[in-house]
Amino acid sequence: MPGLPIKPAVLTEIQRQLNHEWSAAHAYTALAVWCTERNLKGFAQFFYKQSGEEREHAQKFMDHLLDRGATPELSAIPAPRTKFKSVLEVAQYAREMEQANTAGIHQAYEAALANKDYPAQVALQWFISEQVEEEAWADELVGRVEAANCAGGMSSLDRHLEKVLSAKAHGGE
Ligand code: FEO
Repeated sequence: MPGLPIKPAVLTEIQRQLNHEWSAAHAYTALAVWCTERNLKGFAQFFYKQSGEEREHAQKFMDHLLDRGATPELSAIPAPRTKFKSVLEVAQYAREMEQANTAGIHQAYEAALANKDYPAQVALQWFISEQVEEEAWADELVGRVEAANCAGGMSSLDRHLEKVLSAKAHGGE
């Protein structure tokens, strides 16, 4: 088998996490659809971009496995949540997803540590840093939505969301 072999326990964790990234992409697309239907185009654009980032994350994990001679196994992606009562609920859900994602990354890292898998540790360190950014924008999103407590405030936030959060969420693009 080509590549630096990966221990089964680490492989299991990375497989789980890469499928989690695909499901996060799916979930953010659903948030973008919800926002589009309510004319929150700025939120929609932000969540579509986030969905694209989650796909990149999944690809990073797949590339790591392929480089190590392991086959990424893609599992079924559950239908995402589509019902929300408010933009605040959407923002809170995005934050919950990121918190769960951080926990998943840390769990995978612990397996890499326990199995002395140094390449997986390095690969996962990128994700550990990424989750600091992801949780930062998610916290800020919830805070800003809470503060935009009138129709005018929400409309203004929608127009400027990408600019306001882009440094944290998309590396300042
Ligand atoms: Fe793949 Fe939102 O972190």
